[in-house]
Amino acid sequence: MPVVIIVGTQFGDEGKGKVTDYFASNSDLVVRFQGGNNAGHTVVVGEKEFKLHLLPSGIIQNKKSLIGAGVVIDPKVLVQELENIKKINSNPNLIIDPRAHIIMPYHILLDAVHEESRGNKIGTTLRGIGPCYAERSYREGIRFEDLIEESRLREKLKIIFPIKKKVLECSYGKEVDISLEQLVKEYAELGKKLKQYLGDVSLLVQEALDAGKTVLFEGAQGAFLDMDFGTYPFVTSSHPIAGEAFVGTGIGPKQNLKIVGIVKAYTTRVGSGVLVSELHGELADNLRKAGNEFGTTTGRPRRIGWLDLVLLRTAKRFNSLDEIVVTKLDVLSGLDKLKVCVAYELNGKQVKEVPALTSDLEKCKPVLKEFKGFKIADCKSYSDLPKEARDYLEFIEKELKVKISMVGIGAERNKILNK
Ligand code: GDP
Ligand code: IMO
Ligand code: MG
Repeated sequence: MPVVIIVGTQFGDEGKGKVTDYFASNSDLVVRFQGGNNAGHTVVVGEKEFKLHLLPSGIIQNKKSLIGAGVVIDPKVLVQELENIKKINSNPNLIIDPRAHIIMPYHILLDAVHEESRGNKIGTTLRGIGPCYAERSYREGIRFEDLIEESRLREKLKIIFPIKKKVLECSYGKEVDISLEQLVKEYAELGKKLKQYLGDVSLLVQEALDAGKTVLFEGAQGAFLDMDFGTYPFVTSSHPIAGEAFVGTGIGPKQNLKIVGIVKAYTTRVGSGVLVSELHGELADNLRKAGNEFGTTTGRPRRIGWLDLVLLRTAKRFNSLDEIVVTKLDVLSGLDKLKVCVAYELNGKQVKEVPALTSDLEKCKPVLKEFKGFKIADCKSYSDLPKEARDYLEFIEKELKVKISMVGIGAERNKILNK
């Protein structure tokens, strides 16, 4: 398939990095199209663990890796990440679109003061993502094309920086201890380091497709963190759903493609917001430990819930999923019994899709179906999985009417079974 889009179907951290790395071996280009360094994508290769925040996961296999216009870039983080990757690959094959927006220090400060002053804390990663996207909409953003040209950067910051400084100091009493000139110097320096990666991602992707090459799109976050279709306001500030692959790259949607949803075998969430199938107490603690469910970006403990088919049916609709990859099945190994949320109870009725009204969603209670537990030992193929594990997976397939193409049974690159 010339185009493959990988998306998270839950609240992020489904294992998109690992699956992207898997698909990357058969792809010519790997593209990030939304989000920023709020993402944390892990790829484990032998003894080595790579945690990527901005670089597309294809970089590990030295695939041409592109950062599209829809991504927000913290240049400090990107420069650091490039330094790290250069330890295994001295010449990373990276392209950055000039239209991508840049996260500036005042965005990070604004993220913190907004979060502090909010009654209902979102639990943001505090990486400046929201304020950077907001300023893109205000048309006050700094883009990659500005970062790499000192005179443009200075001219733009001359106008924008005093406004941000005033807001931070006067409205929030937060001192901004950097001058305009220091800011220009520091960021122009970062721009110099990154300028070599400039390229028109929209054009390059189209040219690659025209030449018969294969393009892999790596989503960040997950469907229910979508700015519009997620559990607003407890969401991120971009669109982690498949449609954004086109908008965030600058190509049209009429493609010969496959859309792959990544599904963790249970549910996790970092930050606030509804989690209908949430577990508490010892069971949640044990699963958190077994799955090492601590944020890749912030280290925060992730909240845990049973697999929620209501979320997944709705994620299928948002994304037009062609197939799913179920990850972390091994984490459920050893439980006597496990449950799946098959519907929500709302006002005495069962609903099978996530209600569009927040006030309805907040009232929903999980309807759970119980399954026999299983133990996963060293399985080499899908048929090696215990019958109870296969029953669990085949129930998911039947309910969602989407085929499972692969199953993850460990963090390591080769711990993935074709179904
Ligand atoms: P992403 O943000 O969707 O890329 O996911 P993260 O990397 O934030 O979180 C997924 C975590 O689970 C990482 O630590 C992965 O190494 C790990 N992982 C991925 N697939 C599997 C799997 O099938 N089993 C286990 N045990 N760990 C996995
Ligand atoms: P990956 O790509 C899990 C969550 C934050 C917070 C909300 C808003 O690794 O799956 P933001 O910093 O974006 O303003 O935070 O979104 N969040 C994620 N949760 N995985 C992610 O990315 C996330 N990116 C943002 O925890 O609740
Ligand atoms: Mg993650």
